[in-house]
Order: sequence, then C-alpha cells, then structure tokens
Amino acid sequence: MTKPVPRVFSGVQPTGNLHLGNYLGAITRFVDMQKSHACIYCVVDLHAITVWQEPKELAHNTREVTAAFLAAGIDADKHIVFNQSQVPQHAELAWIFNCVARMGWLNRMTQFKEKAGKDSENSSVGLFSYPNLMAADILAYRATHVPVGEDQKQHLELSRDIAQKFNNDFAKSIREAGYEDGFFPLPEPLISGPATRVMSFKDGTKKMSKSDPSDLSRINLTDDADAIARKIRKAKTDPDALPSEPDGLKDRPEAANLVGIYAALEGESVEQTLKTHGGGQFSSFKPALADLAVAKLGPIGEEMNRMMADKAYIDGVLKTGAEKARTIAAPVYEEVKKIVGFIR
Ligand code: AMP
Ligand code: TRP
Repeated sequence: MTKPVPRVFSGVQPTGNLHLGNYLGAITRFVDMQKSHACIYCVVDLHAITVWQEPKELAHNTREVTAAFLAAGIDADKHIVFNQSQVPQHAELAWIFNCVARMGWLNRMTQFKEKAGKDSENSSVGLFSYPNLMAADILAYRATHVPVGEDQKQHLELSRDIAQKFNNDFAKSIREAGYEDGFFPLPEPLISGPATRVMSFKDGTKKMSKSDPSDLSRINLTDDADAIARKIRKAKTDPDALPSEPDGLKDRPEAANLVGIYAALEGESVEQTLKTHGGGQFSSFKPALADLAVAKLGPIGEEMNRMMADKAYIDGVLKTGAEKARTIAAPVYEEVKKIVGFIR
C-alpha cells in the first residue's frame, strides 16, 4: 500500500434539525472541497446512537442528512456519500483506538462534559469514547483534511494524537510492513470562513444547536421562506447601528453573528459586508439578510423535501457510497491488522 494521498473526510450526525450552523460551518465547506480533493462525506449513524435515538427517526434523519448533502451540491458520483454503519471498518478500527487513546485524553473532552451534563454516570460508554470512533472514521481512509465547525477542533486534535501514538507504539512493526514515515497521516482540521461558529438567534453567546428546545433559536434547512424571514425578524439584536469595521463587532455577539451569517451566505468577507451595510440599522439589515437567506436556503430545502419523497433513490446513493468506501477502508484495515499482530 502506498503513502496517504490528500483526501478529505467529514461527518454529520443524523440527529434531526439540520440547521444553518451545520450548513455554513460544515456542508458548504464540503461542497467547496470537492473542486480540489477526493472527498468522503459520511452520515455518522454510529455516533448518533451515543445518545438515545428512536429507530424510525434515526432512519428518517439519516436520509435527511443525505438529502441535504445532495441538495447542497455534493456530487455522490464523483465523491463518496454513505452512512457509517454500512462500513464495518469504522467500528473495528475504533476498537483498536479504544486501546490506543488514554482515559486522561478523553477526560479532557469538553463536548462529553457538555453532553453528559450532571448525570455523567448515566451516560453511555459510547458517548465517552465517541472521539475514538471519530478518529477511526477519518483514519480508516487515511484522510488528511477534515472540514468541520469550530466545535470539533478538540476532537480533531485528539484524532491527531491517536494517529501519532499509533505510529509511535507500532513504529517497528510499521517499518517492517514497509512504511517509511508512519502509517497514519496526522489529519488537519479545516476550520475557516466567516461562520465557523454560528450562534443561537435567541442568545448570541450560545452556539446554534439541534437540541435547543426553542425552534426560534435556529434556521432549519427545511424551514420555508416565511419561517426563515420570521426567525430572522425575531432574532435578538442590540439597539445600535452596524459598525463599518469588524472591530466594531467586538462585545456585540448578536450583531457579529448576523453579519457573519450574511457574509457566509453571500460568499464574501465580514469586511465586505460591513462596507455595504455599516452605519445601517437592524431594521434594514434584517430584511436584507432574510431575502438573502431565503434565496440561498429556499431551493435547498425544497430539493431536500423532493428527494425525501424518493427513499429508494437516497438508499441507493448510500449503498453505492458504502461500496466505494469499503474498497478504501478494507485494505487499510487489513494493513492495521498486520501491524497490530492479528493473524489474518
Ligand atoms: P453535528 O450536527 O454535531 O454532527 O455537526 C455537523 C457539523 O456541523 C460539524 O462539522 C460541526 O462542527 C458543524 N456545526 C454544528 N453546529 C454548528 C454551529 N452552530 N456553527 C458552525 N458549525 C456548526
Ligand atoms: N463529531 C462530529 C460532530 O458532531 C461528527 C463526526 C463524526 C465527524 N465523525 C467525524 C466530523 C469525522 C469530522 C470527521 O459534528
């Protein structure tokens, strides 16, 4: 097997309510990466069940994330789109990584602390070892670049630590298998653009999230034009006009959020957005943002709804994607077995 080639991998959990943060922080970046890289995009259903999922809803949400990928412009013919549970190497490699990663590393994961809350004794073991499975997702393809939102930075660092420790622990065996500079690449996070952390419309200090009980806190990708416009109109703001320079957004989280969203949807920098809208009031900026959001998201939501009516088509995409994924992951895992010393 040759050296790792540049390859993009990323995942989204099928846990319902795909929102503007997922779209701007992750999915639009996935679309961009297709021009320059071979890409693998995965609906991570194994990750989803680290917290309870109603089986019928899980299946529905898996198809919905797939529909969102396709509607946003991911090309499943040229690249790979599939759901994680169809490729057994993810779970197999995750087990090996459970034995590479240290308790101390996982104990530092802030997302576990947030998700487990006060009742961590009652959370699943899977929720704790979640980041090891994430490392397995990426490294099963020896992927080199991982587009994600800001909230995944710590998990990506852990993936790098796992790759590094595996390369060190098995250095001799890896050399004997014919690899000069380690087996796994250290995957690089790609976190950039004006909207790596989209915030709640109700509270500019909280991230926009699937699990927020208030539907007004987020724009869902399946919201219609009226809902999008209404949520933007009702979004919390401060009473001041928009500044003309990014510096003027400091300590104004709600204003910074809406401007960042505008810039990301328009495909421009925050500086450019403020050049056009600086000095204006929210009473005129919000309708401009609503028009832009409806223009960009409306067609995606409609296309998602159209695709969701054709389950067989979506399931076919996932099946073909899983077959393609296995052709990459299976030989990688065979090498891992050899390196670790499993008789094959
Ligand atoms: P999840 O829904 O947790 O599987 O997240 C899927 C992708 O969306 C990940 O790359 C996240 O980092 C990204 N993401 C989730 N919420 C946000 C947000 N509020 N702002 C930006 N990116 C986000
Ligand atoms: N943990 C990621 C999230 O919640 C989803 C994910 C799972 C992922 N495996 C991945 C992201 C591999 C990037 C690469 O958003």
